[in-house]
Amino acid sequence: MHALVVDDDPTTRTQLRALLGSWGYDVLEAGDAAQAESALARRDAPLLMIVDWVMPETNGVELLRRARSLPEASPLYVIMVSGKHESAAAAYALESGADDFVSKPLDPVALRARVGVGARMLAKSEALQRYAEEMSRLAEARAAEILHADRLATLGQLAAGVAHEINNPTTFIAGNAELLERVWPDLERALAQAGDARLVAISAEVPAMLAAVRGGAERVRRIVADLKSYARKGSSDPRERELANVNESVERAARLLGSRFKHDVRLELDLGDISACRIDPPTFEQALVNLLNNACDAVQGVAGATVAVRSRQRDDGIEVVVEDNGAGIPDAVMREIWNPFFTTKPPGKGTGLGLCISQRIIAEHGGALRASNRREGGARFVISGVGS
Ligand SMILES: Nc1ncnc2c1ncn2[C@@H]1O[C@H](COP(=O)(O)OP(=O)(O)OP(=O)(O)O)[C@@H](O)[C@H]1O
Ligand SMILES: [Mg+2]
Repeated sequence: MHALVVDDDPTTRTQLRALLGSWGYDVLEAGDAAQAESALARRDAPLLMIVDWVMPETNGVELLRRARSLPEASPLYVIMVSGKHESAAAAYALESGADDFVSKPLDPVALRARVGVGARMLAKSEALQRYAEEMSRLAEARAAEILHADRLATLGQLAAGVAHEINNPTTFIAGNAELLERVWPDLERALAQAGDARLVAISAEVPAMLAAVRGGAERVRRIVADLKSYARKGSSDPRERELANVNESVERAARLLGSRFKHDVRLELDLGDISACRIDPPTFEQALVNLLNNACDAVQGVAGATVAVRSRQRDDGIEVVVEDNGAGIPDAVMREIWNPFFTTKPPGKGTGLGLCISQRIIAEHGGALRASNRREGGARFVISGVGS
């Protein structure tokens, strides 16, 4: 630790330097207030200052006042030294911002004890400072979490309402499109008999149009189902869940996406020996399907496209890792992926709900879902702590 000795008398400075040096301090000397101020402005500023009260030009009390008023003043323990012996002088020095007061001539034994007090105070103030910083970091993190949770809760209510409203009209659209498709061959024949070339040309387009309407309605239905599952309150009591094997869920989810793994994307399953645990298979599989879908999207067009799923029994529950060898997740995207409706996919392709729903499902299973990038390239999603 640096200690600063401020005294216009070189003999006193030499004496203090020798004493402080022998107690393990790195000693800086200043012969006047100006030198002291530049020493205090150093990057590794001294934390302890022994300052003479009476000096020509700026005296010790004035120097102290200035040092204390520096905007980013670091902790500084100040021992004021003076030839004055009256208690009024000591009181004045302490009121002016000194932490301690000693009279000349200096008594090395007493001074050592008082410097020791200063070191203890500094250590405590540093510990407090660290604690305060840690607390403020925690508070910031907590505030961000609350904001996120709040946004999700609002979305949940909104989603439930919207899903409910959209469900019925979507069913009409899909049902009527299906009905039209069924009666269309009869209508088409009737139109052909009318012999109007323009009508015949238009009618050739109708099956594709109806299929598009049905496809669109199906897509709306899926989004609504997603929103509903997002909005619903999951069974939070694990005892109501059945005992199931996570590996079977992984296999079922992979089967559901079978067509995506058939062609260009290789699926590697490495399922470890894990114990059965209480999960809600349909929702758990939904989370897995989301992760697998994302991984398949990420490896589109990649040579040797591979998605790997690994399950392991860990001390804190079951872990499932989904990895791909796609491009990975850029930092700016990583910050957003858990937010509802955040997607980098083209309109009509992604809703941006997948990860947000999955994270919630895993949390409802008592676990955590985290994302990172693999050193070798590609993304890694880790479900951990399930069934613990
Ligand atoms: N394996 C991955 N590799 C690279 N980026 C990914 C990966 N998984 C997710 N992402 C990024 O995170 C975003 C959000 O994913 P999320 O599953 O929430 O929504 P989405 O896939 O875009 O849409 P959907 O609602 O259809 O799932 C994606 O758009 C993508 O940018
Ligand atoms: Mg997705």
